[in-house]
Amino acid sequence: MSKIVNNFWLKKQYANDSNLNARARLHQLYNVNQQPLQEWFFEQISLPNNARILELGCGNGSLWEEHIDKLDSNAKLTMTDYSSGMVDIVREKFNNNSKISFEIADAQNLTFSSQSFDIVIANHTLHHVNNIDLAISEIARVLKPNGVFYATTNGTKGLENYFYEIIQKISPTNRAFSEPLPFNLENAHNLLSRHFLKIAKTDFPNSLSITSVADLMEWLEASRDMQPDIDDKLLNKLHNYFDNILQKNGQINIPKEVGLMTASQPFETQNQDL
Ligand SMILES: C[S@@+](CC[C@H](N)C(=O)[O-])C[C@H]1O[C@@H](n2cnc3c(N)ncnc32)[C@H](O)[C@@H]1O
Repeated sequence: MSKIVNNFWLKKQYANDSNLNARARLHQLYNVNQQPLQEWFFEQISLPNNARILELGCGNGSLWEEHIDKLDSNAKLTMTDYSSGMVDIVREKFNNNSKISFEIADAQNLTFSSQSFDIVIANHTLHHVNNIDLAISEIARVLKPNGVFYATTNGTKGLENYFYEIIQKISPTNRAFSEPLPFNLENAHNLLSRHFLKIAKTDFPNSLSITSVADLMEWLEASRDMQPDIDDKLLNKLHNYFDNILQKNGQINIPKEVGLMTASQPFETQNQDL
């Protein structure tokens, strides 16, 4: 089983938000498109009045930090994560907001009633789920007939693939980043179409222009739990490789592929209508 969906490694990676923050930092410092992903996300989606919203894999709640005012006075948001450490963090952060509740939840096994949410959000979360089809079927089940599922994820030719190609050059038998994310912008349509009738993809154009090797290495260190074969020897080789690029070019340019999948008209609803 790949480390990226392995509960042992995920529990270590997401025991608290330190790895998440370290990885987010690289993007915050060096994104060429400086619009925050969270702000872009809220421009793409529409929240109905009095919305019942479920977030899966909420992490440290960064989606809502600057956007909590998007919840109208009757909205209810249920923030959930598989990691109890993350749920503790969001409970601490948002506890004074009566519109928000907090729960530990595995996307593959939701305890919520069928057809109970207008919106389900899973941002950069489904690639960690072992049985993605089961998770999507659960999401379709808990959505109301006119509900919408939103999921941001990455494509297969972004940052992870960039590392894969470089590692193959300097250490050809190394398997780090050799597997694409299990839920990505290329396969998401297929996976979602088993449970939703209507699916759309919107790209968020971006790339990284990095001027510090230390910051890039910090991202790799924070990703170590989720990839095979990232050892100190490899990290030293990569450090030298990136030092050379930076000296030659003055920056390290890395492609990114990020986007939003929107899925509506869940099949469970369709079948009930027949
Ligand atoms: C990459 S982080 C994304 C966090 C947040 N959504 C964001 O965009 O910053 C992935 C999150 O998914 C959670 N997660 C992993 N497996 C999960 C599962 N089976 N069900 C629910 N959440 C899960 C992790 O604990 C982690 O907080």
